[in-house]
Amino acid sequence: MSSQIIPVDPFDYVVFGGTGDLAERKLLPALYHRQLDGQLSDPTRIIGASRADMSHEEYRAFAQAALKEHLKPGEYEDGQIKIFTDRLFYASVDAKSEKGWDKLKALLDEGKDRIRAFYLAVAPAIFGDISEKIRDHKLITKNTRIVVEKPIGRDLASALELNDMIGKVFREEQVFRIDHYLGKETVQNLMALRFANALYEPLWNSAHIDHVQITVAESVGLESRAGYYDKAGALRDMVQNHILQLLCLVAMEVPPSMESESVRDEKLKVLRALKRIDASNVEQLTVRGQYRAGASSGGPVKGYLDELEGGVSNTETFVAIKAEIGNWRWAGVPFYIRTGKRMAGRMSEIVITFKQIPHSIFDAAAGRIQSNQLIIRLQPDEGVKQSLMIKDPGPGGMRLRNVSLDMSFAEAFKARNADAYERLLLDVIRSNQTLFMRRDEVEAAWKWVDPILKAWETTGQQAQGYTAGTWGPSQSIALIERDGRTWHEVI
Ligand code: BG6
Repeated sequence: MSSQIIPVDPFDYVVFGGTGDLAERKLLPALYHRQLDGQLSDPTRIIGASRADMSHEEYRAFAQAALKEHLKPGEYEDGQIKIFTDRLFYASVDAKSEKGWDKLKALLDEGKDRIRAFYLAVAPAIFGDISEKIRDHKLITKNTRIVVEKPIGRDLASALELNDMIGKVFREEQVFRIDHYLGKETVQNLMALRFANALYEPLWNSAHIDHVQITVAESVGLESRAGYYDKAGALRDMVQNHILQLLCLVAMEVPPSMESESVRDEKLKVLRALKRIDASNVEQLTVRGQYRAGASSGGPVKGYLDELEGGVSNTETFVAIKAEIGNWRWAGVPFYIRTGKRMAGRMSEIVITFKQIPHSIFDAAAGRIQSNQLIIRLQPDEGVKQSLMIKDPGPGGMRLRNVSLDMSFAEAFKARNADAYERLLLDVIRSNQTLFMRRDEVEAAWKWVDPILKAWETTGQQAQGYTAGTWGPSQSIALIERDGRTWHEVI
């Protein structure tokens, strides 16, 4: 059965930061794909907004060039591009002054009854200004939502401030905080795997699971984002949001339904149950790393410090953490998480390792019995693998072998792998918040991350060097091997 495409009601998407990198690389291509699949209804409009002076025509030309660059060959169809660019409009507005707001209002008034979404693809520093302008110019209708991108704060205090600023203008059910990992197909599949099969749930606890690994490895380096990244580091950039969200989906209790509050209530409980890491245990439970010169994607690459102006920084481009969840289901089950730039390849996966069998009936000649592993591959090559011990076929007695039931989604479904933003952008229009972070989740995640950041500062824990193109510093290997386990590393 192939997926069903249900058109959404007409909408006006106003993208602040409409000429920025996110709009160009992700948002415009995602909306174009939804049009290709017949999901946009007339008279849907996309209104780019930013400070630059630009006519509607110039914005259409900008978008056309962006699509040309970012679509795959064959996806750029002249007829469809024309229909898409006809949907585009532009408003030059200044978040800090009155400039342009009346014009934007006049443009929006042409579609007063349409669903309206404001997408803030801009620096969080101006989230508050834009929200207030939207309110002061009476742009909020009964069918309006606002979408914000991470980073939502750089610690708990700044996240509270940002959430308060937005909360002064919008009700929580109008606020969509994007974590694009939640829009990834395999991440949603995690819920299908757990809650649409009777097989795993009875085993999904500390009685049967030995440990969980979550790896989000990237091969890219700084990608001209030094200004942002050097102030953030891997813990804020990847763990506070994406990786903790993945951990929540693995660890949460079965929600009563897929309804957004049910799912988010369960995720919140996991975040609140994470055991505190602070100066007393930070050195045993965390590893910070920073890449040095090495090789990536077949060529030599510079080290992190060589990419930075000034060349001095203790910011981590890699982090590994042994986390634990203090509740009955997970007591004593470590969750090893790690992420880094310039690692051995681009690979994100979740590995659930089950406990060893309690007693073997086979003799030594049968070989070692390995623990079963369930491997959920997020990217690339999305899929699920379940390792099992089987008898080696043929004569020669009972010899055991570890094999995988291996399902690659690309092979099984022959479907295009939609970008996470495609799903999420339209969930906003459908007003479905299940795959978005609620305010209390963001704050609970910071409550766990803040003491780690503080402990790194007070203990002076350094980022350990690792060669670009490897799996991170040796201390990360030691972190898991101390417990008699190893990282799962297959590219
Ligand atoms: C972003 C981070 O949120 O996610 C980036 O800011 C990172 O540093 C990116 O590269 C990874 O996303 P994906 O979808 O390429 O895995």
